[in-house]
Amino acid sequence: MNEWWAEARFGLFIHWGLYALPARHEWVKSREKLTDEAYRRYFDRFDPDLYDPAEWARAARAGGMKYAVVTAKHHDGFCLWDSRFTDYKATRTPAGRDLLRPLVEALRAEGLRVGLYYSLLDWHHPDYTVDAFHPMRDDPQFVAAAKGRDLGKYVDYLFGQVRELLTGFGRIDVLFFDYSFPGPEGKGRREWRSEELIRMVRELQPGVLVNDRLDLLDVPGGWDFRTPEQFLPRRWVESGGRRVPWETCQTFSGSWGYHRDESTWKSARQLIVMLIETVGRGGNFLLNVGPTGRGRLEPRALDRLGAIGAWLELHGRSIYGCTRAPEGFAAPPGTLLTYHPGLRRLYLHVLEWPAGALHLEGMAGRVAYAQLLSDASEVSFTEKGGEAGFFAGTREEWPEGTLTLTPPVAKPDVEVPVIELYLERG
Ligand code: GLC
Repeated sequence: MNEWWAEARFGLFIHWGLYALPARHEWVKSREKLTDEAYRRYFDRFDPDLYDPAEWARAARAGGMKYAVVTAKHHDGFCLWDSRFTDYKATRTPAGRDLLRPLVEALRAEGLRVGLYYSLLDWHHPDYTVDAFHPMRDDPQFVAAAKGRDLGKYVDYLFGQVRELLTGFGRIDVLFFDYSFPGPEGKGRREWRSEELIRMVRELQPGVLVNDRLDLLDVPGGWDFRTPEQFLPRRWVESGGRRVPWETCQTFSGSWGYHRDESTWKSARQLIVMLIETVGRGGNFLLNVGPTGRGRLEPRALDRLGAIGAWLELHGRSIYGCTRAPEGFAAPPGTLLTYHPGLRRLYLHVLEWPAGALHLEGMAGRVAYAQLLSDASEVSFTEKGGEAGFFAGTREEWPEGTLTLTPPVAKPDVEVPVIELYLERG
């Protein structure tokens, strides 16, 4: 069921909502303890006049992404779609229309799979109880007035909205719930009625892949993939001693919503390396954009997506459908491996281009052919091990079993060159 997902490897996360206007983090309402009234200024002025979902979808496809996950509702409770359960939605802002539906359609038109993000937290709903993250947590009057809130009513609303999303938008490929914080003052499976919720989800969309934030980690069928956030695990993520599907979600610069003043942007090369590392550990990479309040992807994002897409156009073979290299293949220093099980090819991503030979210990006899992936030019090799040269009368030797590649001296003109190694049969 998750075959398409493991093949895809690379997706686009889209965080878009009212918080694009303050442009200083999607948690602004909670961080700055903004009242509903203060936050309303953004609702009243949300008017993405340059919004062109087809352009976003094109950018995702050109960036090499195979799926996209869109925030239907984030923690502030604002809904991008025309939900019949609330007026707190795009249709009631100056935007005056459903902003989610055309995006879902545009993504599909570009051949991308569609995922929806739905926030379990809701800092707007009148029945949502005040907790440690709620914007009004330090306002005694508000807290007192909210004492009688019945979270159950909010959770009914949540169920209604999830049902709406899963029945009104065609096939949904991924559902990304966010998030649970169980505990005495928290909210988890008991509060969200997570087990009932996931049953409903599976019934409505049997093929959907659900993330792991419903607080059901120990429940069979309670999740389909793990979601390390802005964190790259050292190795393939395991659960109960078994390797499981996982996806790391990452930002360009730290925040998920559009953040005008953040300057901590990763370079295209850094992001490409993260993608390679992720795939080499058996995971997926979900890279986030925070479009602006006018509905555009900002130049900094387009620049990176373009560069990653250009790299993937030549090197997609080392990413899509690839995974961790089989045991016994060790990447030499300064390189990263991925492996395509169907093709039986190893991909050596060379981060530091060598001036001369590249030695792969223990690889002699295992490689039938080697080439640069970017232009299919042969990379010749020897398997002598042993003698590698003289200097000052001393012989330098590599251990028996070493395969020595002779890459071109000039680094290929790509962000990260890849040498494709066709493994010997058997
Ligand atoms: C979170 C954050 C959030 C972001 C997200 C992405 O837990 O609350 O703002 O949407 O994770 O994974």
